[in-house]
Formats: sequence, structure tokens, C-alpha cells
Amino acid sequence: MTPDPAPDGANATWLARSRAAVFHPCTQMKVHETLPIVPIARGEGAWLVDFEGRRYLDGVSSWWTNLFGHANPRINAAIADQLATLEHVMLAGFTHRPVVELSERLAALAPPGLGHAFYGSDGASATEVALKMSFHAWANRGKPQKCGFVSIAGGYHGETLGALAVTDVPLFRATYEPLLARHATVPSPDARLARDGETPRDVAERAAQALEAHLAANHESIAALVVEPLVQGATGMAMHDPHYLVRAHELCTRYGVHLIADEIMTGFGRTGTLFACEQAGIAPDFLLLSKGITGGYLPLACVLSTDDVYRLFYDDDVARGFLHSHSYTGNALACRAALAVLDIFADDDVIASNRAKAARFAARASGIAAHPKVRHFRQRGMIWAFDVDTPRADFSRWCFVEALARGVLLRPIGRTVYFMPPYVTTDEDWAGLVDATLAILDRA
Ligand SMILES: Cc1ncc(COP(=O)(O)O)c(C=O)c1O
Repeated sequence: MTPDPAPDGANATWLARSRAAVFHPCTQMKVHETLPIVPIARGEGAWLVDFEGRRYLDGVSSWWTNLFGHANPRINAAIADQLATLEHVMLAGFTHRPVVELSERLAALAPPGLGHAFYGSDGASATEVALKMSFHAWANRGKPQKCGFVSIAGGYHGETLGALAVTDVPLFRATYEPLLARHATVPSPDARLARDGETPRDVAERAAQALEAHLAANHESIAALVVEPLVQGATGMAMHDPHYLVRAHELCTRYGVHLIADEIMTGFGRTGTLFACEQAGIAPDFLLLSKGITGGYLPLACVLSTDDVYRLFYDDDVARGFLHSHSYTGNALACRAALAVLDIFADDDVIASNRAKAARFAARASGIAAHPKVRHFRQRGMIWAFDVDTPRADFSRWCFVEALARGVLLRPIGRTVYFMPPYVTTDEDWAGLVDATLAILDRA
């Protein structure tokens, strides 16, 4: 590949300056004594370009946020127009056009009954909002004892203390255990847990029965069940049958427990429908959105809630209101980016064209599925994942470096490799990704 001419600074300079000044997220900084940070100068479509002109296919959509490529001209134009009009105004006591239009459009697109949009910034702030709102809604109904939450084994809902308390990824939570509220975890419907002869639906039913037993015994102290619908991302792209969501919805209704659907990763077409809940035909009490909502441009989170929940806060008493806020709640630039994203979904019939693209991509990836080191090859919409049977203890880091050397950005989770490409990824880009992965697997 030919490097771009005249980069404005070599990679090494930015790498050194970043190591000295930036405390990078989710990182043991000492690792970067040997593992280089990748300095990115610019992005174009599905590609990231470093300061020396090397190009990397963004196989993980920049932490699952990007949908329509980097530097997308349509989203750029919408943000630039908004920038010249109104960048931000506080949302307490004020409103503006992008936040009103976005709230109306999300309510129309989401499963029925979710007509009230509350905004935050990153995904974890959506989780915090939902947990507080669920508890407070029950308290306003005279049931303050409903202050517990149930989440799924391996679930991930963010890193802030409330979100971490309903997250079950030991690496992220163990250190902070003394700071975390105690909540219950129920078995995952992960289809990989199938026993002899069991279908994914059977696994889902078995997990639903465990949930039923838990709710039957504890529902009086439980405010909500928190679920990542169809794909549990951070634990390693664990996928389950929609039957679990049908049953979870039915059990939450029966036992008077809110259902919080965390679609922070699965939303906006990732699983093949605009929202994953659609594949189970369910409407949760809370729908959490972030990441793809702005196409990967700006931090924005949204919690959609039902009329029933909203009404419980509507009162003469100030303290019965939901007194939660962030300074940038409903930021106008972020809302405008989100509106541009919804325009692209509508104008380009993205869900249908992704369906065709995902089928072509799956066919091209069949060599990976058949590779002798690959276990549990799985797909849901525009997410592919598989587990690698390798003796390499450092597989994740090793694979990351091997992929970079081949012009591909992959970030395996343990021994699970996944692809979550931007929707603008071309067949040619994808072929390169598959071939690079096959070469890596041969050496794994
Ligand atoms: C399902 C889910 N919930 C919540 C979060 C937290 O989002 P954020 O990292 O934006 O705080 C993530 C992030 O990966 C996620 O995948």
C-alpha cells in the first residue's frame, strides 16, 4: 500500500505524546511499552488512516459506534448546518428543534408505547438513568422496597458504578466490588451452552425457567430485569434465541418487574432489524440507546420509557419528578447527527440492503466457519463472531497486532474474534478482512 504524501507528523511522535499525556481507556498503560498505540490522522468510510498513510479497515466500527463510515458527507453536512445555528442549550426549562424531532422520530420507530425520551451522554449514562428511573417509578407507586435489579450472566451495561453493579464481566468489576451495590445474576441464554441435543431455543427456555424461579421468589424486591437483547456483546458476542426475550417479557409482566432492554450496542440495525427487540415482537418498559444513534460521531444516549412510567413522575410534588441531569443532556449537535442517521436509514432503505449485504458477507466468510481452529461460528445481522481453539494465552493481543499488520482493526475478546463492520463496508473490503483473518487463523 502506498503511504499518503506529506503526513502532518510521523506516527512515532503522536504515539509518544499520547503515551505521555493521555490516560487511555480500558488499558494497562504499561502494555504500550511494547504494544504501539495506533495514531489515527483521519478516517474515510470504513477505513482509518494513520499519520504515515497506512490504512486500517475498521472491523469493529470504532467500539461498535460507527454505522455509515468515518467522515460521512451527509452526517458532516447536518452537523455543520447545526453548528451554524445552535450548538447547545441546557435542556432543563429549554428545548430545541433537533431534540424534539429526534424524540418524535425515535418514539415512532421504537416498539410501541415508548413515547418519552430522556437523554444522557454515553451508554453507561443511559443505564444509570434507567436504573434510577425504574426504582423511582416503583417508589412513586408506593413500592420503595423494589430496589433490586436482575441481570444476565456475562451481561455488560457500562463502567459507572450503577451500571457496573449490573455488569457481570469479572475483569471490569472485581477491583471495584467493594463499591458496588449487590444485585442478582441469572443464567445466560447463550446458545453455546447447549447440552447434547438442545437447540438454541431449548437453551433459551432453560434460562427462562431459571429467571422464572428467581422472579417468583424475589419479585417483591426487584425493580427491573436488565437484558442485552439477542447479543451479549462485551462478554464475547454471546448470541441467543429470541424466545428468551419473549419469555422474559412475559415473566416481567406477570411478576410486576420492569424490563430494561439495553440496545446500546444492538440498536440501529446491528442485529438485522432496527431494534433487536423487534425480532421477539416485544416492547420493553425502557429502551436504552447510544453508540450508533449518532452514527459514531458524538456522544449521545437516550432512554425511551412508557406512558405508565412517565405518568408516575407527573405530579405537583417536585421530588416525585425525575431530578436527574447531565450538562449536555439533549445536545443539539448530537441530536442533529442522530437525525441525519435516521434520514440515511429511511432514504437508503438500510435494513433491507444490509440484509442482502449480510448474506453476501456470510457466504464469503464460509472459509472461516469451516476452519479447523474455529468453534461456534455465529452471526446475527451485521455481527459475526467465533471462538478460536488456540494454545496462545495472549491470543487477543497477538491477533490485534497480526490484524493491524494486515491493514485490519480487530479487537478480540479473549479467544473470541468478532467482526462488526460499518454498514458502508464494501464486498471488496470484506474479502480483504476474511482473507486476513484466515491467514491469522492458520498461525494461531
Ligand atoms: C450493551 C452495552 N451497554 C452499555 C455500554 C456502555 O456504553 P458506553 O461505553 O458508551 O458507556 C456498552 C458499551 O460497550 C454496551 O455494549
